[in-house]
Amino acid sequence: MKPIVYITQKLPDEAVAGLQQSYEVRMWEDAETSAPREELLKQVKDAQALWTMLPDQIDEEVFEAAPNLKIVTNLAVGYNNIDLEAAHKHKVFVTNTPDVLTETTADLTFALLLATARRIVEADRTVRSGEWKSWSPMGMTGQNVGGATLGIIGMGRIGEAVARRAQGFGMNVLYHNRTRRSLEDVKYAALDDLLKESDFVVILTPLTEETKGMIGERELSLMKESACLINVARGGIVDETALYEALKANKLWGAGLDVFEQEPVPTDHPLLSLPNVTVLPHIGSATVQTRLAMMAMNAEAIASCFEGRSVKNRVC
Ligand code: DGY
Repeated sequence: MKPIVYITQKLPDEAVAGLQQSYEVRMWEDAETSAPREELLKQVKDAQALWTMLPDQIDEEVFEAAPNLKIVTNLAVGYNNIDLEAAHKHKVFVTNTPDVLTETTADLTFALLLATARRIVEADRTVRSGEWKSWSPMGMTGQNVGGATLGIIGMGRIGEAVARRAQGFGMNVLYHNRTRRSLEDVKYAALDDLLKESDFVVILTPLTEETKGMIGERELSLMKESACLINVARGGIVDETALYEALKANKLWGAGLDVFEQEPVPTDHPLLSLPNVTVLPHIGSATVQTRLAMMAMNAEAIASCFEGRSVKNRVC
């Protein structure tokens, strides 16, 4: 009997064609949303491999319901949606998709930083709505990026790729990380110092118990009033209420957010009412080439698990 692979969202044919030859591939037939919880719990009863997406919460209940499960492969570099302790307890491998998304996510980070600094989305809206009356001396003025100080919180592979882009813009780059790195042209700073000195603060750290809510009212109050906060990591790292208050009171100049505590962010969320917030629907790694490369890694993880090869990119 072929091992059963369950995929929680519809993926492109080319991403699953290879697996279909040797495995029984079952897939939720919607490319926009994941299988509902009930369906997931039903499907994992038979599955030996589970291919998951960021919205799927893979917790003790799922592992309990999946007696034959050998591997969970997550279509993301982040894996805060998977309970690794439970995976370990149930002797299930967990893999992610690092490296292939590094440059793409760094591009998006920089695009969001530039869009926030230069009010690109707001300016577009002004043109379309007919509010553009005339060229004006201080109309749509933003913040300088070239020569500014960038503070990166979480200096992993994506952080380094963002720093390389920043250097092309003549930026001075600071970073804060759990462990100091020996890196050229970027300077380590304590978190408070980074927040005080940076014109742009970019969050790239994973969401863990340690980083949950790490940017709250106190941290935001340390930032310059002319500064922008860019979050492309996970929503839970920033206290969204404190961020809203800081932006509304002009204690912070702008924010660029690709991630939210609740995704999709409700359209009546207070942050969405502010003109100085640029929002995106969690698209850090969303290019055709990168998403297909990530899927190829997931498929390879499943194949290597069942074909007795060493499983790469294991996080558990
Ligand atoms: C990841 O891979 O963790 C990203 O957040 C997806 O864009």
